[in-house]
Amino acid sequence: MRNVTIDNVTDVVIASLGKSEPVPARQREIMESLIRHLHGFCRDVRLTHQEFLQACDFLARAGAVCSDKRQEFILLADILGVEVLVDMLSNPVGGNETVSTVLGPFFRENAPVMPKGASTVQKAFDTQQTVYVEGHVRDTEGNPVQGAVIDVWEDAPNGLYENHDPDQPDYNLRGRFETDAAGHYAFRAIRPVPYPIPGDETAGELIRYMGHHCMRPGHLHIIINRDGYRPLISQIYDSESPHLDDDSVFAVKEELIGEFRKAPQGADTDLVLRFDFVLPRTSRQQVAAA
Ligand code: BEZ
Ligand code: FE
Repeated sequence: MRNVTIDNVTDVVIASLGKSEPVPARQREIMESLIRHLHGFCRDVRLTHQEFLQACDFLARAGAVCSDKRQEFILLADILGVEVLVDMLSNPVGGNETVSTVLGPFFRENAPVMPKGASTVQKAFDTQQTVYVEGHVRDTEGNPVQGAVIDVWEDAPNGLYENHDPDQPDYNLRGRFETDAAGHYAFRAIRPVPYPIPGDETAGELIRYMGHHCMRPGHLHIIINRDGYRPLISQIYDSESPHLDDDSVFAVKEELIGEFRKAPQGADTDLVLRFDFVLPRTSRQQVAAA
């Protein structure tokens, strides 16, 4: 097509889809919408060529920051509220199941498998408050879910996750725990502190461009997996933490706020946190689709 104009360019690009090779339906749907929205955005703001070049440079620098320790694009998506949106679209809440929220960029596979009640703390910090975390995992009818694996991770009192802090032991504050026959789980950890998402590279540039800030409220991350149930990626938030109402990545949900209460006398931790989870069973269709 020659003589592309400002009026027909969007339709011309869309018409190119599948011209040389067949494009599967979902791919076509994604590309058509992407082209429409990108073109619409450029028209809306009347993007200048200089701004376009700045954006290309920004993305190139974001890519250069990525490594096995840092996924800059997840961070950028989080700052724009895209991860939380995708999560809500993927995991609609239809009943009493525990709500999900963002995974974030700090998850590591293969955390140590630990016995019920063990501590994830490998290095003590002066300012830390220890906490005994326990609760039940049940299905939506209230039946215990035995053998569910709960993967947990959190930041240290210096606000850093272990894989971003050379002074913490490998897998510090990470562990995997299994529920017993009653669906009960327990582990020892520390009270998570509010922390800034990494703001040193392009993520920081974007946050500043938006006039926003980097802080997240204190939270424990969890992933729960059990065959036959919908996997849950979520977080438990500290009810006393700052930034519950101005999270830099928009991931706080009321139902995920837990109370870190003073532990009873004689307990071996400073605090206790009780939090139950509800997992829906996966239907046969969902299993087939997965
Ligand atoms: C986190 O909770 O670890 C996180 C989530 C989104 C962006 C950065 C960090
Ligand atoms: Fe986090």
